[in-house]
Amino acid sequence: MGVILEIKGVRKTFGGLVALDGVDLELEEGRIYILIGPNGSGKTTLVNVVTGVYKPDSGRVAFNGRDITGLPPHEIYRLGLVRTFQIPQPFLKLSVLENLLVSKRGQSGEALLKAPLRNSWLMEEIEAVEEAFRILEELKLADLWDQPSYALSGGQMKLLEIGRALMSGARMIMMDEPIAGVNPVLAHEVFGRLQRLRDSMGITFFLIEHRLEIALRYVDHVFAMASGRIIAEGKPEKVLMEPKVIEAYLGA
Ligand SMILES: Nc1ncnc2c1ncn2[C@@H]1O[C@H](COP(=O)(O)OP(=O)(O)OP(=O)(O)O)[C@@H](O)[C@H]1O
Ligand SMILES: [Mg+2]
Repeated sequence: MGVILEIKGVRKTFGGLVALDGVDLELEEGRIYILIGPNGSGKTTLVNVVTGVYKPDSGRVAFNGRDITGLPPHEIYRLGLVRTFQIPQPFLKLSVLENLLVSKRGQSGEALLKAPLRNSWLMEEIEAVEEAFRILEELKLADLWDQPSYALSGGQMKLLEIGRALMSGARMIMMDEPIAGVNPVLAHEVFGRLQRLRDSMGITFFLIEHRLEIALRYVDHVFAMASGRIIAEGKPEKVLMEPKVIEAYLGA
């Protein structure tokens, strides 16, 4: 398992405000990472820089050994570094399966949706459906394949967002507060599925989450951030004990 993401000396300012103050971090493939830190410490900004939403003032980001600093978001996405988003309103009317099919890379999603109206499906389309079902099985959503997406629970919706990312060919998935507003039982289930995807597909996850009492038992490695810097990293039990980390939370 090699390094999948490397961030070196990343700095980002907004006017006079220093949001990221020289961030260095390295992620190995096939692990679950969490980024913690008080409000305003720069977590979302870091994800925005990595996924191409913001250009850093200085520093470098490399994905799978390739320099992606300053690339536009769609190019980074195409390389397999994908951030999940809430499913847009029009897509909520589509079924669970259809939501995966429209996320398939290199095909017009529209063509896939219209495919059943034609007499024969192309091989490519059959393969896309098979792939979608494999992903739905991994997520334990397969039984819901024909349900309209709006009928899903909050936790299932998060899983569908992950399914869409996987269908697009994601190797690394970034999620900003994936279990915000999800009830504890389902939140544990969501994290359990992430572990399953890590183990079966080698997917790397980078999560931002405030609900540490739920999240920490599922992650391999913690990065703690304060005032735009990484102040501690390592196993959850170690990082949470560090005085710097406790102080950052108390001071916030
Ligand atoms: N587009 C922007 N324009 C100006 N300032 C911004 C912008 N985005 C973020 N900031 C500022 O940068 C700092 C870091 O914000 P960021 O959203 O990254 O924090 P965060 O760690 O994600 O916080 P939270 O836990 O509350 O989500 C904050 O002071 C914020 O106000
Ligand atoms: Mg944030």
